[in-house]
Amino acid sequence: MDAPAINPSLDLEDEIERLRKERNAVILAHYYQESEIQHLADFIGDSLQLARAARDTEADIIVFCGVHFMAETAKILNPDRKVLLPDLEAGCSLANGCPGDRFRAWRARHPDAVAISYINCSAEVKAASDLICTSSNAVKMVESVPADKEILFAPDKNLGRWLIKETGRDMILWPGTCIVHETFSHRKLIALKARHPDAKIIAHPECEDHVLDMADYIGSTSRLLEYATTSEFTEFIVATEAGIITQMELKAPDRTFIPAPPEANCACNECPYMRLNTLEKLYLCLRDETPELTMPEELRLAAKAPIDRMLELSASVK
Ligand code: 13P
Ligand code: SF4
Repeated sequence: MDAPAINPSLDLEDEIERLRKERNAVILAHYYQESEIQHLADFIGDSLQLARAARDTEADIIVFCGVHFMAETAKILNPDRKVLLPDLEAGCSLANGCPGDRFRAWRARHPDAVAISYINCSAEVKAASDLICTSSNAVKMVESVPADKEILFAPDKNLGRWLIKETGRDMILWPGTCIVHETFSHRKLIALKARHPDAKIIAHPECEDHVLDMADYIGSTSRLLEYATTSEFTEFIVATEAGIITQMELKAPDRTFIPAPPEANCACNECPYMRLNTLEKLYLCLRDETPELTMPEELRLAAKAPIDRMLELSASVK
């Protein structure tokens, strides 16, 4: 199907501003969105902060500039609002690599284990999990499980391995990875660090071991942003999706942020799913109130229970 036409004389930023007010809509954006979308957003955050913002908003429409599982979480937590995602195809390699039927079969082979799922998964997987976590609260969620219980962790094996090291808890891991965070080159990172010996390497826990082993600081997107802009250091090599650098530069214009290099000569450190959302699609989705995210009520309620547990257990996590 052809994309609906946009009048070329329109100022899209002004139009988005006008429509946002007219429709009583709130624009929530993840740190990995294009900078032009970040500049228009009412709220920018990590997965946990965005879930809370979606739950608490009183706007009639939530426009979610992020990926599908994030918009789905917004709908699960705030079913009375209309939730729009500028591009419904904005998926996630972790969510795509963990289909509901295979996850349920995996669980069934470990009937006594507690299943913790990273929020980067479908509503179907959430519905079959005991507890959800994000990269901000994952340590706390793992530590909340009684010591004598076996833990299944899905779908990110890199985050899972890091959590095993951090908590000392053994876990059975689903073999999923993020296509963006597995792209960073160990060889090029060593060379970059040699050229910038004072730079601190900061990394998201979705990165592979060889990157995490070199990192001076590991954390969720919001923690990386905080560390990079408030710690005593001034130069950073950033091993996560490059979109986060928009906020780092805005908050600390005098500091230096160098994106960690991917193995290939590509823009593979940009999430191809996140980048499906564009200013044009944001405008169209506000104008036409579509594409809308919907889901069966039974699935929503089943997926909400482990998210509610997470929100309750991590109320003190920023
Ligand atoms: P954060 O929750 O740290 O923002 O991570 C989301 C994500 O998709 C990272 O790739
Ligand atoms: Fe998924 Fe990776 Fe994109 Fe995050 S960066 S949304 S984990 S594919």
